[in-house]
Amino acid sequence: MLRLEYGRMLQDGLDGEHGLSRTQLAELVRRFSGVQAEVRARRAGGEYGFYDLAEQGSAIRSITQFASGVGQAFDHVLVLGIGGSALGARALLTALRAPAWNELDDEGRDFYPRLTILDNVDPASVHAALGRIDPRRVLVNVVSKSGSTAETMAQYLVVRAWLEEALGPAATRHLVFTTDPERGILREIARGEGIATVDVPPPVGGRFSVLSPVGLLPAALVGIDIAALLSGAERALRDAESPDLLANRPALHAALHWAADTWLGARIDVLMPYSDRLRDVAEWYRQLWAESLGKRHDRRGAEVFAGPTPVGAVGATDQHSQVQLFMEGPFDKVLTLVSVDDHGVDVVIPGRSELPADLSYLPGRSLNELLAAECQATSGALASAGRMHMLLRLPEVTEDTVGELLMFYQIATGFAGAWYGVNPFDQPGVELGKQLTFAAMGRSGSGSVPTPPADPGDFA
Ligand code: PA5
Repeated sequence: MLRLEYGRMLQDGLDGEHGLSRTQLAELVRRFSGVQAEVRARRAGGEYGFYDLAEQGSAIRSITQFASGVGQAFDHVLVLGIGGSALGARALLTALRAPAWNELDDEGRDFYPRLTILDNVDPASVHAALGRIDPRRVLVNVVSKSGSTAETMAQYLVVRAWLEEALGPAATRHLVFTTDPERGILREIARGEGIATVDVPPPVGGRFSVLSPVGLLPAALVGIDIAALLSGAERALRDAESPDLLANRPALHAALHWAADTWLGARIDVLMPYSDRLRDVAEWYRQLWAESLGKRHDRRGAEVFAGPTPVGAVGATDQHSQVQLFMEGPFDKVLTLVSVDDHGVDVVIPGRSELPADLSYLPGRSLNELLAAECQATSGALASAGRMHMLLRLPEVTEDTVGELLMFYQIATGFAGAWYGVNPFDQPGVELGKQLTFAAMGRSGSGSVPTPPADPGDFA
């Protein structure tokens, strides 16, 4: 079970005049019933579809069946998707499979396939991936809820031609689409050609879909226990029902971040796991938080230009990179340090006779101890410098705790939407860029697109 320590968000946990006061905390507690009521009402109205993902009995059965049947006939899985259709699968792979998974031999991977996720149209990455993968041994999972995303569909066209060149009509047996159950071109192609599909539940948006078939299919294909992910997620959902803000961890995360931003000007939200395995959870969170909360208009249509800026970091690596800024830069940040009690393995640091005295504290201690000490020490140093932060403690990195962590952040994002008064489930700000891309690519019928200000053309 996750533990959220938030004492160092408060003035009395920090040196100097920084942090939220107890009065402000009491004000958050007082206002919480209204926020929770709004979230409940919107859920009842059909928003917040991801709350229902803990109950997916039949989807779990069919994904598991597919993964252990057809899926195991392949030794490479290639996921094509972008944004919410890719980041969740990557977070799951990094957290729950052995490090450097694709470099392990069959035995090292327990005979589960390798997994490559292409989430860009950078020709160098696409070309390299297709050069590395054997088309006869690959299962390609095209993930697009809408089926209209330019990057994913461009990847699909390239990969489909590559498959057909090697396999002819048998190419269709190497494809599985994750898409809307009814709508979109992928659904149409799948119907027409008998391509396997799994459904994205319509009420679940891309960045909230990691625990839907979007993330679960690739996860199951590489042997991740998807039922355990969902049972962890269920715990976060239960937590989120508490009417007491201080016992409702996801709601508390949202409330403290909103208050730090709105009342104290701390607009930057740093997520810093002390675990390489959680590095891509920070990447996933960055998209979740940014795309959901960064909004020009609130729900009533007023211009608010809201949204904290999420930043990813990794402990202890970033202690030698960004922590200087976090300690001494502007007071515009809130950090969450994520610590892991048990990393599953440990490595003891051996001694050496030529070691200087100032390193003599290392031999005989373990890397686990060192990492934990660094996390505690960074927290202490941040507190001394008056820097607001929280500690999120995970007992270990397993399907159960990762499922809880991902759902915790999704719920927190939903609550944050209510605190900010914005719709966390749309992304109107990315539309104009899409329209301009269509126009630049000469798409017919792209309609009238506003002309951006002329580039004065300065260059050096
Ligand atoms: O969170 C979101 O809604 C987006 O990031 C989408 O996931 C992303 O744009 C991909 O969309 P689609 O799955 O429709 O291809």
